[in-house]
Amino acid sequence: MIPLFAPDMSPEEQSAMQQCLESGWISSAAPQVAEFERALADYTGSPHVVAVQSGTAALHLALLVHGIGPGDEVLLPTLTFIATANAVRYTGATVVLVDAEPDTWQMDPALVEEYLANENHAVKAILLVHVLGYLADVTVWEDIAERHGLVLIEDAAGAIGSRLGDRHAGSIAECGILSFNGNKLVTTGGGGAVLCQYADVAARVRHLANQAKLPGPGYDHDLVGYNYRMSGLGAVLGLVQLQRLPDFLDRHRHLHEFYQELFPEAIFPKPVEDSSPNHWLITARMANRDQIQAIFDGADIQTRPFWTPMHLQLPYAEDRYLSHHNHSENIWKEALSFPSGSGLTDRELDTIREVIVGAR
Ligand SMILES: Cc1ncc(COP(=O)(O)O)c(C=O)c1O
Repeated sequence: MIPLFAPDMSPEEQSAMQQCLESGWISSAAPQVAEFERALADYTGSPHVVAVQSGTAALHLALLVHGIGPGDEVLLPTLTFIATANAVRYTGATVVLVDAEPDTWQMDPALVEEYLANENHAVKAILLVHVLGYLADVTVWEDIAERHGLVLIEDAAGAIGSRLGDRHAGSIAECGILSFNGNKLVTTGGGGAVLCQYADVAARVRHLANQAKLPGPGYDHDLVGYNYRMSGLGAVLGLVQLQRLPDFLDRHRHLHEFYQELFPEAIFPKPVEDSSPNHWLITARMANRDQIQAIFDGADIQTRPFWTPMHLQLPYAEDRYLSHHNHSENIWKEALSFPSGSGLTDRELDTIREVIVGAR
């Protein structure tokens, strides 16, 4: 089978993991966790980074440290992975879903402006997703957030290596998050990070991620915290993966070009001006999506339909959905994700090409 997205592991990862096991530094007490955080800070340009167990945990903490909770509304795109909405729900805040722009597939700022113009809202934050590693136009969102006194948090779960100008996804607004799940460009097995502009915010994230334990040898805690710290094993893996990221990005760019050439009729998301996406999970709209998917299925090549929009998911079906044209559902019905791992070999790409060309 050709998988949708297999982690790209080399002998370097294997030997680093072996050394980690031999040293015994496998838990979150390992010095490599802080080393990974510094490497992420250098790479993203974010001054304060806290490594955690997942992108979902990172989102949860990012919301909590900004005081989001019951009675608050949080705006987020309906076209996202469910973790974005779940993290809001964990805090007790109310999800307000927003339709996508038809060309970029990103949350539509015009719908948000319209909602915020209404006096009767309780919006406290915007959770901006960089859909599929493509940048949302953060400058537009920063302006909206500033004018309305809202917190802006970037969900850059799949966007490591993506940039808007020279600014890295997740490090542009005051707070952002990354995911290092097994299907991301850089993986720690499972993991995430919170990227913060301010030291005091990062300190609160760190505190909550560590069971809100007070400094000192005793077991004293001043809040209900969480066990969200990243393990040493994960950080060791992440350190090697981060060094290999430039090669992963080159390969993903190549894969994107490969699928553009193979499917000239397909419509890929339009990058916003001055942005360079990482082409994480390569996805395009095709009128004959089901037919193409069946051809791939028949050849044992794994593909995936796109995220089912949040307003169609059982836990969020009763929440408010801002939309005039329901672009998100039109995108979802026609979109297909192609095998996108950087470890895909040229031979596998030849197989994919032969299967598609042979079926024409
Ligand atoms: C947009 C988005 N947000 C959040 C997450 C959650 O990240 P994790 O799987 O590390 O919890 C994902 C994971 O794919 C994602 O795509």
